[in-house]
Amino acid sequence: MRGGRRRLKLARMNSIAKSSQEPRPAFGTVMAPMMTLARFQNGEWGRFEALPYGPIEMLPAAHVLHYASTCFEGFKAYRWADGSINVFRMDRHIERMLQSARSLVLPAPDPRQLEEMIRAAIDSNRDLVPEAPGALYMRPFLFGTTPNIGAAGAPASEATLIVLASPVWDYFAGGMKPLRIYIEDVNARTASQTGKVKTGGNYAAALGPTLEARRRYHADQVLFCPGGSVQETGASNFLLLREGRVLTRSLDSTFLHGVTRDSVLTLAREEGYRVEERVFDVAEMLEWTHTGEAALSGTAAVLAGVGTLIHHGEELRVGAGDVGPHTRKLRERLVSIQRGESRDTHGWTKRV
Ligand SMILES: Cc1ncc(COP(=O)(O)O)c(C=O)c1O
Repeated sequence: MRGGRRRLKLARMNSIAKSSQEPRPAFGTVMAPMMTLARFQNGEWGRFEALPYGPIEMLPAAHVLHYASTCFEGFKAYRWADGSINVFRMDRHIERMLQSARSLVLPAPDPRQLEEMIRAAIDSNRDLVPEAPGALYMRPFLFGTTPNIGAAGAPASEATLIVLASPVWDYFAGGMKPLRIYIEDVNARTASQTGKVKTGGNYAAALGPTLEARRRYHADQVLFCPGGSVQETGASNFLLLREGRVLTRSLDSTFLHGVTRDSVLTLAREEGYRVEERVFDVAEMLEWTHTGEAALSGTAAVLAGVGTLIHHGEELRVGAGDVGPHTRKLRERLVSIQRGESRDTHGWTKRV
């Protein structure tokens, strides 16, 4: 980007970041001006560089464009009241990225280099980290670049790793508005063996059913329950809550092991809830939501309350149809740690 245009864009982003009046752009649509990039060639990772955000060069025969060899992560850096910038559970996200890379037989990033790349991406965009409730959303992603269209059965031997940063505000427009969730009780979100891999293909697979549910029922998300067994939505984990109890699916290969899920369950246990992690079905969920609560958890969604479930064309109210008290309480507990408003006794936040 030319110097003048870049300065103008920076000034505009700064004003959005600082103002509470300006209309907030949709989640993920504004990119910070700097990114970091490293390449894997000849069997090793090269040093990374910090570059202006812009087009990247890639051959049309690149492995990722034909065989979807790609994975990514998403997490947030927060500006605390004292002006410091703190990242939430970066280590867990780096660990999950390495796991995804290994599952897809992509060259795994060096975790120390990836952390440095994340720190450098935050540092070079430091002024743009919005104040709470905003954050700087970090998006590391890795993809195979080997030019070979005959490599369906061979891994990429060359790859690129990029860390993007994006100032964000609300993921679900309207913030605490109770969500409408469509229950898909036949099809899975993705193949059962890659459910826990954060790879683009899983999202492409969930898109059709999600758009269809939006068109027919104005649903915000689809809850995938193949064969009636409750898993997760297209972009977040799923929890049931009520007085003294939390229920969610136990960890297996069929769904993404959310860092927010783990954090909420830890806080729930501390607050005295009995946390059950086990398989449960749609019938048990509907029984629970007569009087109990349901919520989606994720970096973007935080902990978002469900107001309506749509099952076989019928609309079913969840509890009172509003965001319930247990969802609000656990959301507040989590958010206050992320924003540095209450003490982080778990070592989840890292100053950068
Ligand atoms: C499919 C899916 N499940 C769950 C999550 C929640 O994961 P996390 O809490 O680590 O953001 C996400 C979001 O990132 C997701 O895309």
